[in-house]
Amino acid sequence: MAEPLKILIVDPQPESVAGLRRALNSFGTLEVVGDAGFGPVASTWAHTLEPAIVIVSVEEPLTRSLSTIQALMRGNPSWTVVGLVNQFDREVFRRTVLAGARDVLLRNSSASDLHDSLIQAHNADTLRVTTAAHDPTAPTGSIVAVFGVKGGVGKTTLATNLAVALAQESSASVALVDLDVPFGDVALMLDMHPEQDILDALADGVVDDLERLQKLLVRSQHGVHVLSAPLAPDDAGALDSRKVGQLLKRLAALHQFVLVDTPVGLTELTAAALDVSELALLVTTPEIAALRRTHACLRLLQGLEFSTSKLQLVLNRIESKTRVSSSEAIEALGHPVAWRVANDYAAMQSSAIGSPVVLQQPKSRLSKDIRLIARQLTGVPVASRASWLPWRRRTALMTAV
Ligand SMILES: Nc1ncnc2c1ncn2[C@@H]1O[C@H](COP(=O)(O)OP(=O)(O)OP(=O)(O)O)[C@@H](O)[C@H]1O
Ligand SMILES: [Mg+2]
Repeated sequence: MAEPLKILIVDPQPESVAGLRRALNSFGTLEVVGDAGFGPVASTWAHTLEPAIVIVSVEEPLTRSLSTIQALMRGNPSWTVVGLVNQFDREVFRRTVLAGARDVLLRNSSASDLHDSLIQAHNADTLRVTTAAHDPTAPTGSIVAVFGVKGGVGKTTLATNLAVALAQESSASVALVDLDVPFGDVALMLDMHPEQDILDALADGVVDDLERLQKLLVRSQHGVHVLSAPLAPDDAGALDSRKVGQLLKRLAALHQFVLVDTPVGLTELTAAALDVSELALLVTTPEIAALRRTHACLRLLQGLEFSTSKLQLVLNRIESKTRVSSSEAIEALGHPVAWRVANDYAAMQSSAIGSPVVLQQPKSRLSKDIRLIARQLTGVPVASRASWLPWRRRTALMTAV
């Protein structure tokens, strides 16, 4: 008898995965070899398991399912993608096929109908599959590093709230890594109590084991997967910055966005994050000392031939009582400011209760400014005031169907 066709199921609901697994495995001709959630993790598992068929649950919000299908079909892969819907809707069917699915099946069909339709879809895809070039490079999400050369300018506030806003605005899968050693406070800002931290992720063998790595991240109630700074500040010295780039890249194989909060200044850890990031947000406030240091940092980075195309300046706490206007600040920096974020008391109120301001006070100016950044990063349409950069167009492709 021929080997069973390997199936990967992309569905975040464990009960429906279990039901499908039982139904499909009963025939002996199909074998469910794994399951995954939406986002880059689905493609990563497909590249690892090399299934013949990938079944993707198509559900609201649609963009999450459709961008997953698009990503799975990138590079003309050797698997057939089939969508699975709860009920038939012509428009959903059309968009699912346009995203790259070979067929769309009804979830409540009988096991034998599902089986036959999957085999048919796979057979119908044979011609494309036999000419498919295997793409060995696993697709990656975008790494966004948030850094600054003056303490207290709002790096953690921005990294944390941007991560939450990205997860909420786009349903993207988002990881948030706290590299601010020894006193990182991302977990505190989200009122989380992780039991494992970045040192566990950097332990031997973990970075190459995506399943173990993913388990070390704690999913916050806001949908962000957090990797905490060392829980015991005394252990921070054990953090090897040489391994950090690889860790971030592996996380980007699991998540659409990897936000990184960094310690103040251009430390080795910050440099490691900047090196692998697609976007580096340099945060400053309109205060003389912060502007002076940020200006010096920009010159230093230019001297180091750091790719300025991925560097964007964020002017935080604009209109605060620092006697330096935004226009004066921009002039002093000598570099375009990509984003301005309001000075808003809501920031302190929210961090005091461990709840992100974008959720706690969604109508505040601060929340609106941060959501605007998130929308631009994911390609969700906004009344734009900042220009589109090439890398944003690339991430926008992941969500636009
Ligand atoms: N836009 C804002 N408006 C008002 N307050 C803000 C704003 N952004 C940050 N803050 C406040 O400034 C303080 C410092 O913010 P945050 O901890 O995010 O800065 P940081 O750069 O991460 O600091 P550190 O260098 O210590 O890591 C906090 O009390 C925060 O609530
Ligand atoms: Mg901080």
